[in-house]
Amino acid sequence: MMKSTKIALILGMIMALFSCAEKENTNIYPGEVWKDIQGNPINAHGGGILFHEGTYYWYGEMKQGKTWRVPYLKWECYRCDAGGVNCYSSKDLVNWKHEGVALPSVKVDSTHDLHTSKVIERPKVIYNRNTGKFVMWMHIDSEDYQYARAGVAISDHPQGPFTYLQSMRPNGAMSRDMTLFVDDDGKAYHFYSSEKNKTMHVSLLNDDFTAPSGKYKRILEKESREAPAVWKHQGKYYMVSSGCTGWSPNPAQISICDSIMGDWKTVYDPCVGADANKTFFSQSTYVVPNPYRKGEYIYMGDRWNKTNLEDSRYVWLPLSFENGKAKIEWHKEWSVK
Ligand code: GAL
Repeated sequence: MMKSTKIALILGMIMALFSCAEKENTNIYPGEVWKDIQGNPINAHGGGILFHEGTYYWYGEMKQGKTWRVPYLKWECYRCDAGGVNCYSSKDLVNWKHEGVALPSVKVDSTHDLHTSKVIERPKVIYNRNTGKFVMWMHIDSEDYQYARAGVAISDHPQGPFTYLQSMRPNGAMSRDMTLFVDDDGKAYHFYSSEKNKTMHVSLLNDDFTAPSGKYKRILEKESREAPAVWKHQGKYYMVSSGCTGWSPNPAQISICDSIMGDWKTVYDPCVGADANKTFFSQSTYVVPNPYRKGEYIYMGDRWNKTNLEDSRYVWLPLSFENGKAKIEWHKEWSVK
């Protein structure tokens, strides 16, 4: 072979190698397929973020396989087998590495809370400084959503494996859509849609975060809010939540309070512009501070595809404050930096 042909061949091989390698994500494309750094679509729905020792961990529902509608229910109860909880890690909130299944579903024992026939939704993980454990809470339900419980699992490592402890009806009440919030003083709170989703509860967790402390408050009474995401901004507590229309989008609302167990007030819809009244075809799941822009946050939502749940997408948008009001605007493409 001639020397020049050889060089051309080697150059061609190098170029082919480069084009095969996954490109780094620089921007967020709400509603588009979002691939992890291994090149697979991210599968972490109804998720939440833990920031631990310089790394972000994204936990979410693994939705895989066929979606079907539960035939005996009047409402549109679409579901797929519970896959467990996936974990991804990232340094920049944009490029995510699949760490594996942090809490797998159970294939054999059909009575187990984590059996594939059950519902495992909206997992959130927090870290307990005193015990050194990572604590996961999640919505556990039966396929008809009548079990309405909160499940708890713990691990020594952020990426798992988590050990499932138990499920409960916190403070003796129903618990469905939920989130966790750790305050600056290290106390942790569980927010959950209760009383047939009509009233939200906020419950102070015990010292090791694995059970309710017994101190709780009924908030947003008879407002029928779900999909709560809670954050703190300039000393006030904020919640973005959705209405109760199953997998279909509806308007978001902001609720505010001066103290976490105080008198929460629902004040306005933070979304502005076209499709704001459908939360840009998404439902809230978490709000994370944007580390690159002080005083700004990232709204994390799910765009559910109810007849193909595995193909549900993520709608992450900038959440900023304008004249003291939280605002979420649509961006087809944006950068967190
Ligand atoms: C939604 C809820 C989702 C899921 C769905 C089932 O209202 O936010 O997490 O439970 O209902 O239809």
